[in-house]
Amino acid sequence: MRFLIKNVLLVDAQGQRGPADVLIGEGLILSLEGGEAEEAIDGAGLLLAPGFLDLHAHLREPGQEVKEDLATGLLAAARGGYTDVVSMPNTTPPIDAPEVVKALKEKAARLGLARLHPAAALTLGQEGKALAPLGLLKQAGAVLFTDDGRTNEDAGVLALGLLQAAALGTPVAVHAEDTSLRRGGVMNDGALADALGLPGNPPEAEAARIARDLEVLRYALRRAHGGTPRLHVQHLSTQRGLELLREAKRAGLPVTAEATPHHLTLTEETLRALDPLFKVAPPLRTEADREALVEGLLDGTIDAIATDHAPHTQAEKELDLLRAPFGIPNLEVAFPLLYTELHLKGGFPLSRLVALFTDGPRRVLGLPPLHLAVGAEASLVLLDPKERPVDPSRFASKARYSPWAGWRLGGWPVLTLVAGRAVHRALE
Ligand code: DOR
Repeated sequence: MRFLIKNVLLVDAQGQRGPADVLIGEGLILSLEGGEAEEAIDGAGLLLAPGFLDLHAHLREPGQEVKEDLATGLLAAARGGYTDVVSMPNTTPPIDAPEVVKALKEKAARLGLARLHPAAALTLGQEGKALAPLGLLKQAGAVLFTDDGRTNEDAGVLALGLLQAAALGTPVAVHAEDTSLRRGGVMNDGALADALGLPGNPPEAEAARIARDLEVLRYALRRAHGGTPRLHVQHLSTQRGLELLREAKRAGLPVTAEATPHHLTLTEETLRALDPLFKVAPPLRTEADREALVEGLLDGTIDAIATDHAPHTQAEKELDLLRAPFGIPNLEVAFPLLYTELHLKGGFPLSRLVALFTDGPRRVLGLPPLHLAVGAEASLVLLDPKERPVDPSRFASKARYSPWAGWRLGGWPVLTLVAGRAVHRALE
């Protein structure tokens, strides 16, 4: 079936243009100048962008389906405008076996929602001791190796992992927090944590670990035979960490980084009410850190906005701040949040913002850019700038709560297409 999105403004990493009449059929963009179609959608006032890719979502399968599963997580992703999702392996048990990667991919394909690209554990059981069978995991469909949720304490194991992954052409992603500095911290370390009487997780825990991991990367680069070791730093939260990455990139190191919607829109101040909704690892930091991250998005130090969608049960998040688990669900609000808070309110360029959801994360995985051009795959998202409040009771995710409940946002995905097939449709 062919269909037409009429009069729609186009935005991708190359800029904004239009309005255009976008003809879609056979899974492709067939024309930007209209044509015969069975269905026409009025795109006036809407924006069309390439489908988003999330580098970092906790979909909780296998073993933690009480928090989320592939069906709810991938529907939440589709509703968030994501056509492609990288799922994290800190499940129960951790995803370190090729059969599990294969089974997850098959199940996701049957669901027909956003496409799943599993990340696999770097080490067996994510225990940081022995490498997982990276070659077999890659063959089964793993696109990234990471012990996310845990940190890689053993630098030698990380180096070996970088070397093996380099030979496979796959990046290694790190959750950069020095555990011995982080200790039992539940929020950003500093005057506010002291005033609230809560254990702090210092920014230096992140910076120290990034500094170490960059040295590990240098070592791996020096010793690599086949392929280039590539290090990806997850959920960057501090100004100091950002500065280290900026320097490393200037020096030409093959390192990439992501930042999350929560670190880009919230600060430690939200913890004043002691609400575990705002408890996340790494913790929400200061306004200066948040502003530094936004600078990092602009100057290219940060390559991608990744959600770190981390659903937990309502009951778990209602425990007190010391006992509640770390994590914020956000797949369904990520783009509207940043569209509103950064672009509309802060003047952040829209095309750069879209790039951080599309070409940026694609580059981290070594995928080609996806632009709005004739012949390109029709993996697309149609966005409605009209404002409406965040209503977590309507989330597809099992985690129906949100730090942003009630915030009025624009930029909602109203149609998500995966290779021309609608996986989310909420057109008026
Ligand atoms: O807040 C977080 N939640 N940070 C992590 O590193 C893990 C994640 C989770 O799995 O819940």
